[in-house]
Amino acid sequence: MLPYYEDYEPGTGRRAPRAAFTSDAGRLSLNGHWLFRLSEAVAEAPLDFLHDHTPRGDGWSELPVPSHWVLHGHGIPRYTNTAYPFPVDPPHTPTRNPTGDHRLEFELPGTWRRDGSVLRFEGVDSCFRAWLNGRELGTSKGSRLPAEFDAGPALRPGRNVLAVRVHRWSSGSYLEDQDMWWLPGIFRDVTLLERPAGCVDDLFVHAGYDHTTGRGTLRVDTGAPAALLTVPELGITDRPAGETAVIDRVEPWSAETPRLYEGRLSTPHEHIALRIGFRTVAVREGRLTVNGRPLLLRGVNRHEHDPDHGRVLDPETMRRDVLLMKRHNINAVRTSHYPPHPAFLDLCDELGLWVVDECDIETHGFIHADWRGNPADDPRWEPMMLDRMRRMVERDKNHPSIVIWSLGNESHHGRNFGVLAEWTRRRDPSRPLHYERDRTYRHSDFYSLMYAPVAQVERIGRHEEDAPPETADDPALEARRRVLPFLLCEYAHAMGNGPGSLAAYQRAFEQSPRCAGGFVWEWIDHGFRRRTADGRTYFAYGGDFGDHPHGGNFCIDGLVLPDRTPSPGLLELKKAIEPVAVTAALGRGLVRVANRYDHRDLSHLRFTWSLEDEGVRVADGELKVPCVAAGEEAVIPAPRPLLPEAPRGELWLTVRAELAADEPWAGAGHEVAWAQFPVPHPHRVAAAPAPAPAPAPVAPRPSDDGITLGDGDFDARTGLLRALGPLRLDGPALDVWRAPTDNDRGMGPDSAAKDWRRAGLDRMDHRTVSVRQGPDRLEVETRVAPAGHERALRTRYVWTAAGPGLRLVVHVVPEGPWDGLTLPRIGVLLALPAACEDVRWFGKGPGEAYPDSQEAARVGLFTATVAGLQTPYVVPQENGHRAAVRWAELTDPATGGGLRVEGAPHFGLTARRWTSQDLEAARHPTDLVPRDRVFVHLDLAHQGLGSASCGPGPLPEHRLEPAETTFELRFRTLAPPAARR
Ligand code: GAL
Repeated sequence: MLPYYEDYEPGTGRRAPRAAFTSDAGRLSLNGHWLFRLSEAVAEAPLDFLHDHTPRGDGWSELPVPSHWVLHGHGIPRYTNTAYPFPVDPPHTPTRNPTGDHRLEFELPGTWRRDGSVLRFEGVDSCFRAWLNGRELGTSKGSRLPAEFDAGPALRPGRNVLAVRVHRWSSGSYLEDQDMWWLPGIFRDVTLLERPAGCVDDLFVHAGYDHTTGRGTLRVDTGAPAALLTVPELGITDRPAGETAVIDRVEPWSAETPRLYEGRLSTPHEHIALRIGFRTVAVREGRLTVNGRPLLLRGVNRHEHDPDHGRVLDPETMRRDVLLMKRHNINAVRTSHYPPHPAFLDLCDELGLWVVDECDIETHGFIHADWRGNPADDPRWEPMMLDRMRRMVERDKNHPSIVIWSLGNESHHGRNFGVLAEWTRRRDPSRPLHYERDRTYRHSDFYSLMYAPVAQVERIGRHEEDAPPETADDPALEARRRVLPFLLCEYAHAMGNGPGSLAAYQRAFEQSPRCAGGFVWEWIDHGFRRRTADGRTYFAYGGDFGDHPHGGNFCIDGLVLPDRTPSPGLLELKKAIEPVAVTAALGRGLVRVANRYDHRDLSHLRFTWSLEDEGVRVADGELKVPCVAAGEEAVIPAPRPLLPEAPRGELWLTVRAELAADEPWAGAGHEVAWAQFPVPHPHRVAAAPAPAPAPAPVAPRPSDDGITLGDGDFDARTGLLRALGPLRLDGPALDVWRAPTDNDRGMGPDSAAKDWRRAGLDRMDHRTVSVRQGPDRLEVETRVAPAGHERALRTRYVWTAAGPGLRLVVHVVPEGPWDGLTLPRIGVLLALPAACEDVRWFGKGPGEAYPDSQEAARVGLFTATVAGLQTPYVVPQENGHRAAVRWAELTDPATGGGLRVEGAPHFGLTARRWTSQDLEAARHPTDLVPRDRVFVHLDLAHQGLGSASCGPGPLPEHRLEPAETTFELRFRTLAPPAARR
């Protein structure tokens, strides 16, 4: 017989799963300081801690509960993506199976009603056995699901001893191969519950909304015994549970308007608090609808992660996640890939997010055995799989926010999913089901994919996709699949710098009624906070704990950094999915405001405008927008600001939509959407100031050890600029390399970075062919080429003195075989003294932007320090690029001296205290040591970011293919002189 931690049983001695709810009956939190002892193997773990005698010494120490013991110095966390960290030998576990014994002594309050008491574990990873006062309660598997035991018979007045043995690995682990850290322990709350005589055991709230009549129907099923329902706001008082109440007018629940009605369910000894949201979910005519209106899910996949505590999340952290999501226009969350802490779902109800609740099932590691023995298709695993589905549905069924049940993730296909689907449809016919990996979709109400390229989403949107091989020979199944709504349950892999193409995806979703939207992979970087020997903080990833095998930094793929700092990707997402689209035809004096909410009109927003002249605000006002209904639009007169007589520079009109009043998730004034438009200046053409007389051409002159041209001092042999006036500098010289992003590195053979390296772009040599002094110019002809290859970029630098500075025209011609290759970037690199650390620019900002991730950047005048320009991605890589810069100044704050660069018309700006090579070599930001230079990249173009770390690379229009190119820059020093090197 197999031991309980290796058998096919989901558990023993547990109570039937039921809804999570709060009541005024007694509730004793058993969270706190427990005693803990870790044994390397089950056989080494004596069962000597179950009784009254308090263990001392012998490896016992204190451990907080909830927690993961590996984050408290007992063993190490392990990160794997698909591979099991133990042999694929189901249902067995290695003999060395770390076993954590936990023990708590607690006092029962004197007033406690012991009969019927229930001991509830919200989550224990991965398998446990519990004893109360030496008496065994039972066992359970299913890490992210609750388990309850009858505690009454074992409870004593006064002092009680709870003993819990937790096994790191179990047969259940075979169902828990999600791409995340393996983190054992009692990681969610432990609670003792009073269940007074005659109390309700379970309840099921059915609250529907008829959008044609505005009517709500409400029934709360409790089974026996009788309970009475009260919902004061609806005039329902002490109505027997089980009866259906019809309410003529209710306000429906939606993620945009999360209207909840407080209710109460009463039995003689207990009141249970209810929060009721009326809504009806339906898949109709191939669309996912709620309350009669189609939904477009602007979602994210959320794992539970805290950089210090793993999957132990406190209520503030959960709230912070929801607030951050709401503030970034996210309206949906897939609880990838397990049911979250129940409090998170309460927050989704309260603050408004559509939820796909996903079952704690993933058997991805069987892919390495060609899916032989996959539990999903083996009847022996049916009870364990069904148990998980039941525990999820029963626990979470009363949340209005949950609109879809997901059967699990990436477990291939098999009969057991049929069993799960059938049970769920019977138990809760009110919600559609999702499962992505069975490509027949027979158990799913959605056609669902991961990481499909934009073009494929567009094709699907037009119903033009090919039938998957799995349904190609089954006309009935294929006909069913064809009319399912389409969900992209994962897309836009937010690993490192990226993802690109968010706006393109969103436009594709919006264009087709068939698309129910998608969920970005993923919400948060799973990095653990650690410190270097000298006390600097960084975030660890796979391998950093000596864990092996490991998935490296593949778990660092979130829209927020491990400490929940929003990444540029999150800001881009916010812009791409904004619920209000403002466009303008200023020539015709019109602005169009489109409401992209699914349920809400625009009356909660206030629209303002401002006019900036070269980044300086010169006028502003309010824009009167009528109350536009969900999905509708309005065309209104554009603001007509008085334009400055003689503008300093470019005029830009910005329209902003902000919250008119406080909402529970953000304060009044919070910006929801914005748009920017260049404003033509009527006078500029007519009364443009006469162009300044061109400065008289200056001829280059030989100097002691170089060549002088205007303010510029050049090396006569290399042709490189060495100084501009008093400012010492190196360069500029052509540069095409960037420290590959995770998306450049890509997954598998499809890697831009590999191609770039193969082509030698990481090791370009510069050969000066000639340095020619013309009557009005200095011409430097070079050949920039990789070691070992014949291909090259012929690069000519033409320098002219332009008044108080220099003008540079760079002309690049690819030579030799470049077919099919792209470049990481093309531009020039120069170096300035480290003191030039203040940056001011007019262009896009304030944040970083790349060709396929620049919607969130607006044109303006910005300042930052060089340090502040860096995005501290957990794994150092290309970052910090500011796009469409018209001019930039890098100055020494002590003196105000420095360099001004102007583009003709634009350039991309990156400035940092380390080189691309330093960035590339670093494993953590703490590896980066500032050099005594500021390295300034002035780029003509970058390759897009794409999302090839798991998914497609940049769109064709964002691939940077080598071509003959000319670009122009102007340089001048800013007085007073900057510090010399
Ligand atoms: C998906 C999987 C996720 C994650 C992602 C890549 O295939 O469902 O759990 O592994 O790829 O980060």
